Amino acid sequence: MKQLTLSVVLALMVSALVACNKIDSVAPAASGDAISFVDTQASNPLIIDHALFDTPAAKEFLATGKNPYIANEVAIAAGKKVFGLYSCTQCHGPEARGQVGPGLVGPTFQYPKNATNKGMFETIWHGTNNGMGGKGIGIMDPTDPTNGLTPDDTLKVIAWIRTKGDGGVTGNE
Ligand code: HEC
Repeated sequence: MKQLTLSVVLALMVSALVACNKIDSVAPAASGDAISFVDTQASNPLIIDHALFDTPAAKEFLATGKNPYIANEVAIAAGKKVFGLYSCTQCHGPEARGQVGPGLVGPTFQYPKNATNKGMFETIWHGTNNGMGGKGIGIMDPTDPTNGLTPDDTLKVIAWIRTKGDGGVTGNE
């Protein structure tokens, strides 16, 4: 019974959060505006703590949905390391062209939204329905809320992945 009460309270909290998010997304444009995220599983609102967007590039992404690290050599080199460090290599192959998991270089994707950097960010952050667990900090490892990719890491790994395609897709189109 206690557990039931707890889940009702949790459900109410979540719907309150979702409601806030909806209000935010129709608010008029102003400085400090943020894009709204949705998960890749069911396009449900995905709430990510804005405090995690703590670098200039991450802040810019939060405001515009564009990845400022595209074509940035230093960020791309860092993104390659993230790809190895978080075992993306093991499932997607060292060149992101597919292994157990699908290739990530496009131009077509299993989830079409991954042609955009906002879409790919949501996919990496929160995972997919069939075999890809979310890698975002606080999501990847339920036993350690400090483990996982920061938004900045995620943008860097995306910038590296985008250099691997032949189609010239940068995701910022
Ligand atoms: C345990 C294996 C595994 C690991 C580790 C893994 N992935 Fe995946 N990934 C998958 C599978 C399987 C899919 C396909 C999922 C589906 O169809 O729902 C996928 C899908 C994706 C997609 C969507 C591809 C498309 O065509 O839409 C992206 C982007 C992605 N992964 C990025 C990453 C990144 C970046 C990392 C490392 C931070 C990573 N993955 C780590 C298994 C993995």
